[in-house]
Amino acid sequence: MAHPRQHLLGIETLPREEIESILDSATSMKEVLRRDIKKVPALRGKTVVNCFFENSTRTRTSFEIAAKILSADAVNWSASGSSVSKGETLIDTARNLEAMRPDVLVIRHAAAGAPHLVASRVGCAVVNAGDGAHEHPSQALLDAFTLRERWGTLEGKRVTIVGDIRHSRVARSNLHCLRKLGAHVRFCGPRTMLPPAIERLGAEVHTDLREAVRDADAVMMLRIQTERITESLFSTTREYARHYGLSRAKSAWLKEGALILHPGPINRGVELEPEMADGPHSVILDQVENGVAVRMAILLRAAGVAARGPDA
Ligand code: CP
Repeated sequence: MAHPRQHLLGIETLPREEIESILDSATSMKEVLRRDIKKVPALRGKTVVNCFFENSTRTRTSFEIAAKILSADAVNWSASGSSVSKGETLIDTARNLEAMRPDVLVIRHAAAGAPHLVASRVGCAVVNAGDGAHEHPSQALLDAFTLRERWGTLEGKRVTIVGDIRHSRVARSNLHCLRKLGAHVRFCGPRTMLPPAIERLGAEVHTDLREAVRDADAVMMLRIQTERITESLFSTTREYARHYGLSRAKSAWLKEGALILHPGPINRGVELEPEMADGPHSVILDQVENGVAVRMAILLRAAGVAARGPDA
């Protein structure tokens, strides 16, 4: 049965049932990912273009691997080395790439709303791989998948997200995703890194780390988004780490067995001490592995073949 192609532009507008459907599909995809021979024909004959106007390690590589496991042709395009340097606009770039008949455009851009704009101007499915400080839906889905895999359900769980909330698309997408799945979300950071009126979106807000992580079932540490910060938001990196970095000493504040997440890249010694990043409660590399499975599910949905399963 044919299914319509579907954009994935953000979590805010994605119903809980859609989120759960992607996570369920990702469970099957993880089984495929762990096979010796990681190849299924589900997207044979389809083309996925990864269109990255910003740098990436995890997101771009995992979308590429996801596409290849599903037998799609994956093409990586990045702004550096492209005709953007000659003045070509976002829309012209997207429409020219679309003219080459891809089925899915995966797009990362520094401007909030860029994938939404592209989606309104092209005929293929568009997947948001991060737009400015707005949303990073595939990251939130892989985070939810990682937590659901550990806990079975997110219903009633407490998740604390720590750091540069104001500039973080990961924080915003996670807030929507975790709350839709029934979790309670706390944000913690210096006042200068908390967006005004963020409580209205449903987060409990703290400036004190000890208070924020108390009773939390998981703690997600964020990198300071220096590429989006133009003013001085804290005195020194050392001072920031002293108040908001998670160290072995501060791990005594955590609930027994609390999971530690980080979307990457980690600034070791700033938001996370290496002992915490690599410790027994860290699920950071699980997040990365799950990123491939979740992005396989996202590509299937985007290409309109989600209901056929991986071996179709
Ligand atoms: N988490 C994340 O988006 O990492 P990359 O910037 O490496 O893709």
